[in-house]
Amino acid sequence: MYSKKVMDHFMHPRNVGEIKDADGIGEVGNPVCGDLMTFYIKVENNKIKDVKFKTFGCGAAIAVSSMVSELAKGKTIEEAMKVTNKIVVGELDGLPSQKLHCSNLGADALHKAIKNYLEKKKDKDKK
Ligand code: FES
Repeated sequence: MYSKKVMDHFMHPRNVGEIKDADGIGEVGNPVCGDLMTFYIKVENNKIKDVKFKTFGCGAAIAVSSMVSELAKGKTIEEAMKVTNKIVVGELDGLPSQKLHCSNLGADALHKAIKNYLEKKKDKDKK
C-alpha cells in the first residue's frame, strides 16, 4: 500500500501552515476529487527561505505537499521550478497507482507560488 515515507509525511507533515506576508502564493485544485492545495513562499536572495502549505485533501495529497515543501526549502527559484510531480513521487518511494493523481497538485502549487512571486517582483521593479 503506502510506503513508510508516505505514512511518515502524512502522520507528521512538515511545514504546515500559512505565511502571512508571503512573497508568493499558489493555489491549485484537483478536478478529479475537488481537493485544494495552497503554497506560500518567502524568498530571499533568489532562494526559497521559507515555505508553508495548507492542503484540504487526502492523505497522499498531504504527504505530497509535505515532501514538496521539504524539497523546495533552501533551493533557488530556478532549482525549485525543476521539482516535478514525478520527482516528488520518487522521493516518497512511490504512490499506489490509484493515488497517483493526488501527486499532480504538489509541484504545480509550488510553481504557481513561484510564478506569483516573479510577477509581484516584476511589478515592484517597474515602480
Ligand atoms: Fe484528492 Fe487525493 S483524493 S488529492
